[in-house]
Amino acid sequence: MNGDAKKKIYREVLRELDAMLAGIEDPITAMATCAAVLHQRLPYASWTGFYRVVAPRLLRAGPYQGPPGCLEIPFDRGVCGAAARAGTAQLVPDVHAFPGHIACDAAARSEIVIPIRDPHGELIAVLDVDSHEPAAFDEIDRDGLERVADRLRHCLSGDGAAFVKDSMRDG
Ligand code: SME
Repeated sequence: MNGDAKKKIYREVLRELDAMLAGIEDPITAMATCAAVLHQRLPYASWTGFYRVVAPRLLRAGPYQGPPGCLEIPFDRGVCGAAARAGTAQLVPDVHAFPGHIACDAAARSEIVIPIRDPHGELIAVLDVDSHEPAAFDEIDRDGLERVADRLRHCLSGDGAAFVKDSMRDG
């Protein structure tokens, strides 16, 4: 897909999310909406969703679209764990070349993972998008998904954010 077509998709994604998430302060509702909009709009996405930080150094599947994903990912495993550990986006053009990649879907070939932080800068989740196409993701995706993460941050200031923190304490 050429860059201009991708940029147009992300403009539409952000416009749609701005309209849908206005006034929403529930992180699960916001994550579910982001996953649904992204998965529907990105033709190269095979799996789109969130892994939430539910205990120190443990991610657990949150809202997602696509085939069943693995349920838990420790911070020391996979591309998602690498993003959580490093606190930076992971862009993986060939998942077979990434040491420790977790193959939830044998057909997955490339992947991008973006850390999600709350308004205090605390890591609360990662956003993971997989593709069956090799090297499907580039800097346009990183930029677009980081803007989605910004939109999500605005939904984390109310009781919903407290809910995520409560579940971390329980976990
Ligand atoms: N591939 C990910 C695991 C999650 S699934 O792709 C849905 C990883 O290596 O962390």
